[in-house]
Parts: sequence; C-alpha cells; structure tokens
Amino acid sequence: MNKLNSIKYPLLSWYDLNKRDLPWRLSVDGQYLDPYKVLVSEVMLQQTTVSAAIKYFKNFIEKWPNIELLASASEDEIINAWAGLGYYARARNLLKCAKIIANDFQGNFPQDINLLKKLPGIGDYTSAAIMSIAFNKQSDAVDVNIERVISRLFALQSSNLSYNKKMVRDIVFQLTSGNRPGDVLQSLMDVGSLICSAKNCTCTICPLEKKCMSLKQDIISQIPIKGKKVSRGEKIGTLYLITRRDGAYLLRKRPSKGLLGGTVEFPGTNWEDTAMIVNKNKYLKSNNLHYSELGVIKHTFSHFYLTLSIVGKIIFESEKDFMSPFSLDKCFWVLPEEFHKYGFSSLMKKAMQYI
Ligand code: ADE
Repeated sequence: MNKLNSIKYPLLSWYDLNKRDLPWRLSVDGQYLDPYKVLVSEVMLQQTTVSAAIKYFKNFIEKWPNIELLASASEDEIINAWAGLGYYARARNLLKCAKIIANDFQGNFPQDINLLKKLPGIGDYTSAAIMSIAFNKQSDAVDVNIERVISRLFALQSSNLSYNKKMVRDIVFQLTSGNRPGDVLQSLMDVGSLICSAKNCTCTICPLEKKCMSLKQDIISQIPIKGKKVSRGEKIGTLYLITRRDGAYLLRKRPSKGLLGGTVEFPGTNWEDTAMIVNKNKYLKSNNLHYSELGVIKHTFSHFYLTLSIVGKIIFESEKDFMSPFSLDKCFWVLPEEFHKYGFSSLMKKAMQYI
C-alpha cells in the first residue's frame, strides 16, 4: 500500500462512522449528492462557519428546492434569505449562477470545472469542491480545515507560504484519485473541524495519528505557518432610529453593489475613518438636542472595525415637516411587526436592540 493509500483508507473508514450529519450531505440516489445543494452550501461556506450556515441553508432550500425555482426568485428575496450571513455579493452571484444554469444549460448542472469557473462567484476552490463532492471527480479543493490537516500531517513548514499551499493542493489531488473523491475531501474537512482543530487538537482519537509527522516532531501548534495578519482600520458614524407616531421606523435600502449591498438599514451618516477624526468620543456624542442617545454598537468587517452611535427621535409633527439630517429620497416607513419581510444585516440587527 503506498503512503497516500495508507492515509486515504483509514480516513474513509473513520468518515463512514463519524461524519458530521450536515443537511447538504443527503444523497439523491445513495451515491451522488444533489449538485444544486452542494453549490448553495459551498457558496454559503465560503466565508461562514458550518454551524452558522446550517440554519440558512435549510431555510434557503425550503424556499427554493431546485435551481429553476431559485432562478425565478428576485434579488430582494435572495438578500432577505441571506440577511445576517454577510458578504451579500455571494447571494447575488448565486442568483446569477441559477439563472445561467437554468437558461443556458437548460437546468443541467455543468460537470466541467472550466465551465463552473466561468459562473459568477465560483473560483478555483468552489469549482473544485463541487467537482469532487457533487460529481465524484478528482480535485485539489483546499479549504482552511483541509489545509491545516494536510500541513500538519506532512509537517509542511516552509517559510514560503505559496510553496506550502501548492504542496497541500498536490497532496489533495493525489488523495482524491480513484474512488470516493468527494468523501475524501469531506473527511479531511471533518477531521479538521472535529479533531485537528486550530486550538485544541485531540490527536489520540485521530484516524491519522500514526501517520502525523507534526505529532512525531511535537510541532503541531506551530503548523500551519501563518502569514502576516491583516491590520484593520477603524470607522465611526451615527445611525438614526426615527419613529413615526404609529410606531413605524424609517428605513432605506443600501445600493446593490458594495458593502452590505442590497440589505435594508436604518439611515445614518457616512462612516468616517477615525484616522481623520481628532476626538472620537466627542464625535460619537450627539450634540443635536432633538435626538436622544440610545447607545453604541460595534461591528467587525473583514477590513475595518466599525463603531456606531445610535440616536433616536420620535416625530410628532407631520413627516413632511421633519427636518431630516439625511436625504429622505430613498427612505420608507415600516412597522416593526413587518421587519421580518426585509433583509437586515447582522449590524442592523444589533441596532434593533434599541427599539
Ligand atoms: N467547508 C466548506 N465546504 C464544506 C463542506 N462541504 N462540508 C463541511 N465543511 C465545509
């Protein structure tokens, strides 16, 4: 048995007994998984943890059980179902993928990696993962869990990080040759998540314990070698919770493109870079007597930290006489009991605590 088979078979035996029971893993015919569900799950899992994605995935599939139904949905409906997951371009791209597959491929899922890569939002990793998981084809799909497991297994510790990544992809490509490529990938993901985790490794229950070169050399905690952390900037701003006498709140929709694109929000100021502001605390204090200060919320985006001061006001006069600090052009009024019909981001859900 060559070295890679001595890894692959213990891994698959372990997977058969211990695999995570995930909703996108229900097979259509005992052998193949539904490519539509694999696509939706892989797009959700691009920037979201498995535990956070499960609830959204189930809801999404209940609403749109197949690609044709998804293709006929509106962008607002998709953003609403995605609200809280973040990275909303993923949702818009998924809708575009569904339309292309339904119209240009007559609903038949393309089974060619080069065709998959041409779909919006489908890059090297996602196309490779779909090829293996949905169509049982050899691939070099490497997510963070797989990268950690393989890097530790082979004690990859070059300071040249792209070299390590290339090695991991080559090893995964070889491991997925022959039978059960999709299960090989998913078993590596599960070992990475359940056993070979970033902080607490439980090597004694690992099916690959005997083969692990990092364990032998006692260097597990140093692997994988990490690149420099991205430093995040800081931004601040003010959010207005404006209520009418009947209890309705003023809302607006963010532009489709860009950060939190297409989600619905309470209106607010632009977010300013704190580097430009001399006294941040003073900036956050509302000096407008017409507004009451309700609190402060904090949120982390991939590239900056945001602090928003939440201020509120009840309009007693006619809304037409209301002197708004922002343009009311794109704003509309909604009662809190109707909020569930709108796609609010996690950031706006934090602001809602003050309602
Ligand atoms: N992360 C990315 N894709 C995954 C999958 N199919 N199962 C579990 N975790 C994943």
